[in-house]
Amino acid sequence: MAREPIYAVIDIGTSKIVSVVARLGPEGELKPLGMGMAPSLGVQQGVIDDFSEVQEGIRECLDECLRYMGRNPLGGVYAVVNGEHLTGFNTAEGLSNGEEPVTVTDQHLRSLISGAAGTLRESDSKSQQTLHIIPMRYRLDGIEGVRNPTGLHTNELQLEAHVVRGTSIPLGNTVRALQSCKVQVDGLVAHPLASAEGVLTADEREMGVAVVDIGAGTMKLAVYRGGTPYYSSVVAMGSNQLTRDLAVSLRVPYQMAEEMKIEHGHALPDDLPPTDEVLLPDTQMHPKRVMRRRELCEPLYLRCLQMLKLVHAELCKAELTDLPGGIVLTGGGARMRGLAEMTSRGFRTQVRVGTPLWYAGLPESLRQPEFAAALGSLQWAVKHRHLSSRGGSTSGEGEKGRSRRSLFRRPFAKAGARETANQETVSQE
Ligand SMILES: Nc1ncnc2c1ncn2[C@@H]1O[C@H](COP(=O)(O)OP(=O)(O)O)[C@@H](O)[C@H]1O
Ligand SMILES: [Mg+2]
Repeated sequence: MAREPIYAVIDIGTSKIVSVVARLGPEGELKPLGMGMAPSLGVQQGVIDDFSEVQEGIRECLDECLRYMGRNPLGGVYAVVNGEHLTGFNTAEGLSNGEEPVTVTDQHLRSLISGAAGTLRESDSKSQQTLHIIPMRYRLDGIEGVRNPTGLHTNELQLEAHVVRGTSIPLGNTVRALQSCKVQVDGLVAHPLASAEGVLTADEREMGVAVVDIGAGTMKLAVYRGGTPYYSSVVAMGSNQLTRDLAVSLRVPYQMAEEMKIEHGHALPDDLPPTDEVLLPDTQMHPKRVMRRRELCEPLYLRCLQMLKLVHAELCKAELTDLPGGIVLTGGGARMRGLAEMTSRGFRTQVRVGTPLWYAGLPESLRQPEFAAALGSLQWAVKHRHLSSRGGSTSGEGEKGRSRRSLFRRPFAKAGARETANQETVSQE
């Protein structure tokens, strides 16, 4: 009997590095085999800024993972990548066969993807790298919004796809850090999509939903509708800013502020009983003191408000004000008490905190919002491994908005499938 495939992922976050290894069962279910976690000390706002610290963190994280496994399991890993340099935009690509209708085949769909990759390559500068080209829908002669055109007749076929692109240097640094630890990188997954994969239900993706992963140094936003991503971006502001604010306002060391935030923090101080008090331990600057919890939480309220305004600005860019599926908050920062309620009041929609959607067998310790991206990228790897290609497009000036320059420029007959992907292309170097 063929051995069940093993998948491994690593998420080099701003506060932690986490890796998870799982086996794909015969029913398509993932069974976790091991995990490792280490503090992340060489990453700022999602981007590596201290190579040796990151190397050390990767080794510590993988050592722990390997101890679970009892042997070296890592043929290759999918790595979550992050940073404000990641941009998502929508593009279009077409094929035409003149007057003669043609039956659309999977080969045509692959050809559209490789055509889109080629178009992006042409428009790219060396500094840019395309990570994902994800088909949203197709347009055939007289039929809009087709999800699966295979087998249908048409003269013209147009693909609309969501593209995620990033800056080559930080992406390359992640790959180099892993390779320097003797880890083979099988693919890169943009953090916004990894988190979405981890926490969104199929219904939410279909209806229209925004997922906001609030990490230590960044917020990752992805909007889905009609089952596919429609908008994605990264904002360089995260939950560590709340800790910094608290450290300044209380005049306590950062670590103490972090403990205060986690134990007593609340995004909506007015919802707290006015009599609630917090005992602050003594520091070099202050003897121990008691203060009103509402007062302690005031800077958290102000910063959360600013963060939600940034999310609102992103949703405005997506030009999608109607989100029947609501908003899903995830990432460690989503644990902040009162934040989901604040988001719900501010956006006037339902909001939930997203923890990894999984089958039985996931330890409770991993069923937490901060593991959304790691576990989501594991599911992404399963979905996309056989579809991914190393020939994905690279380079290009940031090209936001929609591109329709290359519509219908290849006759069906001449369409060659340069890529092996029919869902997306992934390139990593
Ligand atoms: N219970 C909690 N309440 C508020 N914030 C929390 C809580 N738990 C974790 N956080 C915050 O979540 C952030 C870490 O989130 P995480 O998703 O793990 O980040 P990253 O992936 O960037 O390393 C930190 O800023 C941490 O303070
Ligand atoms: Mg993260």
